[in-house]
Amino acid sequence: MKLLEERIRKEGKALNETVLKVDSFINHQVDAEFMDALGRDFAEHFKDYGITKVFTIESSGIAPALMTAKHLDVPMVILKKQTSKILQGDVYQTNITSFTKGTSYELTLYKNYISPEDRILLIDDFLANGEAATGAGRLIGQAGATLAGIGILIEKSFQRGRKRLEDAGFYVYSQARIGRLAEGVIEFLPEDAPATE
Ligand code: G4P
Repeated sequence: MKLLEERIRKEGKALNETVLKVDSFINHQVDAEFMDALGRDFAEHFKDYGITKVFTIESSGIAPALMTAKHLDVPMVILKKQTSKILQGDVYQTNITSFTKGTSYELTLYKNYISPEDRILLIDDFLANGEAATGAGRLIGQAGATLAGIGILIEKSFQRGRKRLEDAGFYVYSQARIGRLAEGVIEFLPEDAPATE
């Protein structure tokens, strides 16, 4: 998606071979009009997928997920990151380990907000190793619902997330795909390039 690529070229900062900072419009300061445009693009892309709910993982996925839900006219649900297991039976939980941040948490969803008929679109800001998205897929599976599509703002195509999700049978659409990062260097891949890692 040209709009996102242009913004990353203008404001993104590649710190090294693995980390891209996009604090000025996604992760710290958020540009609402821009998020609305990204949400409209996701909604257009997934309009024929029978989506009943948009899911995201707190926190940076919330803004684009909300805009996508608005344009699809469906509810948005935030998967919470809890530090420990909740023992009551009214939640689904699964453990996620982030390689990028070296942390782990219990991804948590209250059972009231999902049913087996749901067709879920998962929206998230970054796709790196695919831990978070794979975990969201496990939670949705526990509920007997369908993860009908995954929409990502920035895919780091040199990491294994995309391939892992596709191998698990999930459909992934990324608005920007990054083939290589180095200090001061950001190289994009075309939308239809095969998953590399
Ligand atoms: P994975 O789910 O694809 O395996 O990703 P990973 O665990 O490696 O990354 C975990 C966190 O790090 C996520 O944020 C993700 O958005 C963020 N992240 C990964 N790579 C980059 C990067 O190159 N740049 C930036 N800015 N963030 C990156 P999170 O912990 O869920 O935090 P939040 O921002 O959503 O609150």
